[in-house]
Amino acid sequence: MQHILIAGASRGIGLGLVRAFLAKGDRVHAIVRRADNPSLNELATLHPGRLKVQACDLASTGAAAEITDALAGTPLDLAIFNAGISGPEHQDECQVVAEELAELFLINAIAPLRLAKALAPGLSPNGVLAFMSSQMGSVELARSASMPLYGASKAALNSLLQSWAHSTQPPQATLLALHPGWVKTDMGGESAPLSVEDSAAGLVSTIVAHQGAGGCHFVDYQGATLPW
Ligand SMILES: NC(=O)c1ccc[n+]([C@@H]2O[C@H](COP(=O)([O-])OP(=O)(O)OC[C@H]3O[C@@H](n4cnc5c(N)ncnc54)[C@H](OP(=O)(O)O)[C@@H]3O)[C@@H](O)[C@H]2O)c1
Repeated sequence: MQHILIAGASRGIGLGLVRAFLAKGDRVHAIVRRADNPSLNELATLHPGRLKVQACDLASTGAAAEITDALAGTPLDLAIFNAGISGPEHQDECQVVAEELAELFLINAIAPLRLAKALAPGLSPNGVLAFMSSQMGSVELARSASMPLYGASKAALNSLLQSWAHSTQPPQATLLALHPGWVKTDMGGESAPLSVEDSAAGLVSTIVAHQGAGGCHFVDYQGATLPW
């Protein structure tokens, strides 16, 4: 049984990942903004003692400390940083205001790194720190023309991962930037071709397959490598 932290677990892909790891027999520490979540309550009843839910706004400055305190030294095998937002609907550099940009880059790029850096020392030696990026974060693929601000925030996340991997203090854990596919969620919308279940199943296999690999990789939910 592995111990997995999932940040941003209330709905969509994050909730799908909680469900998939519990079904596999693992233990999950789920971070949500609002504690009383009917889907997670149901999963806690179905899997007694294997799901702990912690309420924490990942945008808050104290989030990483609150989460490490709650873990109280319990080792983690995998940590998944899934929380993300799309930013203002207009996605226009000329209209966007500082507060919108701050929120977008804080949630999508800075907060996941802050939390990962706090958790890294407590990860098992073959641990994985997996970040929900997007193919829209690939500068080379150039697929974010319809969502340029969102794409830039995911490119910033990818850049921060590469910077950490090539720093003087890289983590022992494997770093993964993940593209979950285009998934039917509140963010992905109804036209998305992929179900949460299929995306989550692929992500779980891809993350587990990278345990012990080391380094920093940009891969999709089927394990295919993406260009940075
Ligand atoms: N869906 C796609 O097609 C797609 C494609 C590529 C990448 N992604 C990425 O995959 C991840 C999950 O996407 P999704 O489609 O499942 O999105 P979603 O349905 O909109 O869910 C977003 C999740 O992030 C959480 N979150 C946002 N801000 C938070 C904060 N400050 N503190 C704690 N939790 C916070 C939300 O919690 P609340 O319920 O509290 O708001 C929710 O659990 C995101 O990083 C997204 O960018 C999605």
